[in-house]
Amino acid sequence: MSSFLRPLAYRYRWIYDTVTAVSSLSVGGVDRLRSLGLEALQAHLQPGSAVLDLCCGSGEAAAPWLAAGFAVTGLDLSPRALELAATRHPMLEQVEGLAENPPLPAGSFSAIQLSVALHEFPRTEREMVLSSALKLLQPGGWLVLVDLHPAGPWLRLPQQIFCELFETDTATAMLEDDLPSQLERLGFTFVKQELLAGKALQRITAMRPIQTEQS
Ligand SMILES: C[S@@+](CC[C@H](N)C(=O)[O-])C[C@H]1O[C@@H](n2cnc3c(N)ncnc32)[C@H](O)[C@@H]1O
Repeated sequence: MSSFLRPLAYRYRWIYDTVTAVSSLSVGGVDRLRSLGLEALQAHLQPGSAVLDLCCGSGEAAAPWLAAGFAVTGLDLSPRALELAATRHPMLEQVEGLAENPPLPAGSFSAIQLSVALHEFPRTEREMVLSSALKLLQPGGWLVLVDLHPAGPWLRLPQQIFCELFETDTATAMLEDDLPSQLERLGFTFVKQELLAGKALQRITAMRPIQTEQS
């Protein structure tokens, strides 16, 4: 099943921005939502290091990283979103491509952010995206992932309505799955999950091991 509202939200940015503003109230607003990745990882990183915002959209969640002085690359498949990112965040280096097979060199980032994007991938592609992220990180580099999580009682109904209107089967599948276990199975270490917004959101941080078979 696919939502007809999601393509409309990507086409008409005011719909996307309004939906984001309303759904981010549970974490304290849009600015907080956009800063969740930076907030989790800044202490692990050298100032100015290379960060990839995978599935960056129009670059709103890359903006706090840029403001903090990191060298941020944003990858997205949508030329329309990247055009908007170029206008809104000119310091963002842009790459058009697929997160499942990113056209970027292995081991080139100290951190990778996946902000509210992983739920758009079917299970097989989700596995490919996370495996790609592991390869793109330097040994000892960090992934931060912010996305939906099955809500607690207070937000269960609003989350169901949101998913009915804007999401597809891929989001439902992700809500059924245990992302921390998936990351550990793929080879990440120090996997830590935090539940936010009445459990409706999860923030997961995970590290690429310093010694791996790939390094
Ligand atoms: C919900 S938006 C999130 C955008 C941004 N990360 C944020 O937090 O505002 C999901 C983004 O994922 C992108 N996307 C979806 N599938 C993709 C793929 N296979 N490769 C790269 N980007 C993809 C979409 O174009 C969209 O910009």
